[in-house]
Amino acid sequence: MIIKPVVKNNICVRVHPIGCKENVRRQIDYVKEAGKFKGPEKVLIIGGSSGYGLASRIALGFGCGASTINVSFELPPKGKSKTGTAGWWNNVFFQQFAREEGLEFKDFVGDAFSKEMKDQVISYIKDKYGKIDLLIYSLASNRRTDPTDGTTYSSVLKSIGEEVRGYSIDINSLNLKEEVMEAATEEEIQDTIKVMGGEDWKMWVDMLEEEGVLAEGFKTIAYTYLGSKATYPIYKDGTIGQAKKHLEKTASILQASIGEKYHGEALISSSKAIVTKASIYIPIFPVYGAVLYKVMKEAGTHEGEIEQKYRLFRDMIYGENRIVDENGRVRPDNLELEEEIQNKVESILKDVTNENVRDITDIEGFVEDFMKINGFEFDNVDYGEDVDLEELAKIELV
Ligand code: NAI
Repeated sequence: MIIKPVVKNNICVRVHPIGCKENVRRQIDYVKEAGKFKGPEKVLIIGGSSGYGLASRIALGFGCGASTINVSFELPPKGKSKTGTAGWWNNVFFQQFAREEGLEFKDFVGDAFSKEMKDQVISYIKDKYGKIDLLIYSLASNRRTDPTDGTTYSSVLKSIGEEVRGYSIDINSLNLKEEVMEAATEEEIQDTIKVMGGEDWKMWVDMLEEEGVLAEGFKTIAYTYLGSKATYPIYKDGTIGQAKKHLEKTASILQASIGEKYHGEALISSSKAIVTKASIYIPIFPVYGAVLYKVMKEAGTHEGEIEQKYRLFRDMIYGENRIVDENGRVRPDNLELEEEIQNKVESILKDVTNENVRDITDIEGFVEDFMKINGFEFDNVDYGEDVDLEELAKIELV
């Protein structure tokens, strides 16, 4: 099958396996070039198949030789034409490269929110690793079934109080479209907290602790986005921001137990805005992203997911250069939030129109990154070549 990108409502419904392999390979090459560092030995990542979770897995696997267990929710290819999800191929090719490097790895594909998944993973840890010394929580989901009572909650990306008007990017035409972020109801706010707050993170840590698989010095880290005035109405002050506040409160609760028992840490880290499957879906956010890319690339400070996570772990979590704010959050997003960068971003955002969007923003670079996370637009992949999906489907994840 010749695989061409098909984008519907800003979701890439087809992905290119060979391009996904290239995406993983380039991140590994970055880490190898940047050099080894001392870090954890046994790591569990929840949501490690794409975006920041995958970059964390690559940084720690290839940067410090860590064994990694990844839990992700991805779809394999089906038949001759269903390509599967990008995260599926990222897992497949992470495994291939990790095997060549002599690294240990394990993938669980399924619902991280469920008790069954937690049981399976913990039993694997007991069998193979004994204990883990880092848990990364990098999950982004729009639904969660609470394992205690079976109720399913849906998260929404809405504002709180008043609706917010702005633009979204239409990936197919590279045009701006007017977009309204509606104000959420109280129930929607609470449901979003249920899905994207800290409840499930705490369930993981509690179960791992009960089963005695946390090593002395154990750390756990969850990712948030804080952003700036330009994004507060759609993120920090919106429904997702409320969920992230809950995540932060959870970190304090976890810190109390982990700190005392294991001399460990429960951390929140705020990351830079980048293109991922999850972030492209946030209303109005992509326009901010396209402007930010332009300004940071011009300043020479632009980073993608692998640069962010490599710096986070090498310098801040396991190194001596931790940037921490007044609330104890670890801040590799420092470069995004520099005053000069934000002033420029704000002034461009005020002026952006359909006529000038290609000149004053990096919409092309932003959309190119979107295509790349789905396996397209790599200059060294031959997109005219037939991809034998049925053959590739035989590769099993272990
Ligand atoms: P992503 O969409 O690339 O990755 C999400 C991961 O969660 C995938 O591995 C997916 O398989 C997994 N997942 C979703 N539902 C699952 C389920 N039920 N069971 C198991 N795995 C499941 O998203 P991204 O953007 O990397 O987000 C990761 C974290 O980083 C989130 O907490 C997000 O808020 C945070 N973050 C993202 C930023 C961005 O600009 N993309 C900025 C700052 C923070």
